[in-house]
Amino acid sequence: MLAMSEPLTQSAVSPRVSPALELRGVSKSYGGVVANRDVSLQVMPRSIHALVGENGAGKSTLMKIAYGHARADAGEIWIKGERMTRHSVARSIRLGVGMVHQHFMLVGPLTVVENVVLGQEPVRGGLLDLDRAAAEIRALSQRFGLDVDPLAKVEDLSVGQQQRVEIVKVLWRGCDVLILDEPTAVLTPGEVRDLFAVLRGLVADGMTVVLITHKLDEVLAIASVVTVMRRGQRVAELPAAGLTAEQIVQAMVGRPVQLQVDKSPASPGEARLRVTGLHVTSSRGTPAVRGLDLTVRAGEILGIAGVEGNGQTELIEAIVGLRAVDRGSVTIAGRDVTTASVAARYEAGLAHVPEDRHDRALVLDYSIRDNLILGLQRKMVRVLDVLDRKRMSERAARLISEFDIRPTDPGFRVGGMSGGNQQKVVVARELSREGATVLVCAQPTRGVDIGANESIHRRIVEARDRGLAILLFSADLSELRSLSDRIAVLYKGALVATLEGPALAAPDVLDRLGGLMTGATTGAAKAPDASASASGVAS
Ligand SMILES: Nc1ncnc2c1ncn2[C@@H]1O[C@H](COP(=O)(O)OP(=O)(O)OP(=O)(O)O)[C@@H](O)[C@H]1O
Ligand SMILES: [Mg+2]
Repeated sequence: MLAMSEPLTQSAVSPRVSPALELRGVSKSYGGVVANRDVSLQVMPRSIHALVGENGAGKSTLMKIAYGHARADAGEIWIKGERMTRHSVARSIRLGVGMVHQHFMLVGPLTVVENVVLGQEPVRGGLLDLDRAAAEIRALSQRFGLDVDPLAKVEDLSVGQQQRVEIVKVLWRGCDVLILDEPTAVLTPGEVRDLFAVLRGLVADGMTVVLITHKLDEVLAIASVVTVMRRGQRVAELPAAGLTAEQIVQAMVGRPVQLQVDKSPASPGEARLRVTGLHVTSSRGTPAVRGLDLTVRAGEILGIAGVEGNGQTELIEAIVGLRAVDRGSVTIAGRDVTTASVAARYEAGLAHVPEDRHDRALVLDYSIRDNLILGLQRKMVRVLDVLDRKRMSERAARLISEFDIRPTDPGFRVGGMSGGNQQKVVVARELSREGATVLVCAQPTRGVDIGANESIHRRIVEARDRGLAILLFSADLSELRSLSDRIAVLYKGALVATLEGPALAAPDVLDRLGGLMTGATTGAAKAPDASASASGVAS
């Protein structure tokens, strides 16, 4: 029997132990939108407390309030037995509460150490003591296996590495209560395991973790307590022992959700995206893509599996026109676009769901409607060169309803939407791009909830069946497996193996991919299309 909506009592808890973090009757609205309604929550010390719920359920808002980053309209916040009257981030940090936000708050041109000390710069004799901070970061990184180089420039780091910088930053400030808002959304399974080992180590050291995530297997793997939110309210508090994913989903959504994708075999047509002999240099000046060949045909999904840092970011950027190509070529629908601008590639039929929605895909100050037509403006103009407002609005209304984007007001500012709903805006726009024949799709369900995950997957498969050629990148191997018709493994800048047909259906395929991705095993050297990529790279 699940303890649904049961009032919080001290019964399960020794009365002498104060919660590390406690909220009592917290409410918060933004304009007319209720983000939190009368939420009470206790996070006990030395626990890993998972916070789950659909996109827009109010998880981030609630934790921002606990952290002093947002102000509640009503309710109380307690930290370690002390009531916060004038709450602020500074007070939280002083009391040992740190938060890693869903969208990173790092400054790209600065180094890791500069980012970590920002706002808390250590001084010695009136001078910034960055050397000491760098040594401390190195020590923390080593102690918790975080693999962070204090002197690297943040903008050169992968998203996964930036994630770890955020964690180091909180630890460096001496926090022992960590609020992590979707820390695993961008990590590979191996990185997730590493992070969880870190978190378990932290808890064994006496720390407390609040973990917001949409990945229920993670919740089951690591949490001791699960709080479920729906539409701003706390609807259940479940002890993790004996809990199943289905029970959590039921509490979250209020209905059962299909967790597998229905998909018929692909019937690929002509080649739409062709990459040959591609060489690309990383921002650090090192070779990132080294002689890569691939072909994606109309009506198929080619998935790329790889551990971050093996060239996927550079490969994506080279294909979409954000990074120069050293050698080799990129062809879209027969047109050589190797040196073409981003705009020219769109014209040639390219659509793109980027890895990082804030950097590349959204203008946060624009409305949903305007974001839904970004890059389409040219198609939407009439003779008089005036944007066709009516068509824009119709299109926005249709996509908002098809993709279940919330809130549904097309005039709503995208910056005020929850993370998962922002992602839906990007995916809706790119999947519905008229004239697109090739879709480069990275982390399409990053941060979206179970229900939206299901619908985005369905739409990607529908787009394939309409004849789109899809190149899919995802850190989530089970997502790759359920969507892809073929999976190619990217290792050290080249494709070292391709799995398809029975090999892809085999029960041990995830382990097999894992081995190939880390170079532990080498493929039977069957490159996806051409020859050059198969040899010499993996060993
Ligand atoms: N700054 C803001 N301005 C306006 N509305 C906001 C703002 N922040 C949050 N909201 C609204 O509050 C509600 C809760 O948002 P919140 O970001 O807390 O959801 P969430 O549970 O974290 O969702 P997700 O899983 O998508 O990250 C949403 O309807 C959102 O649109
Ligand atoms: Mg959120």
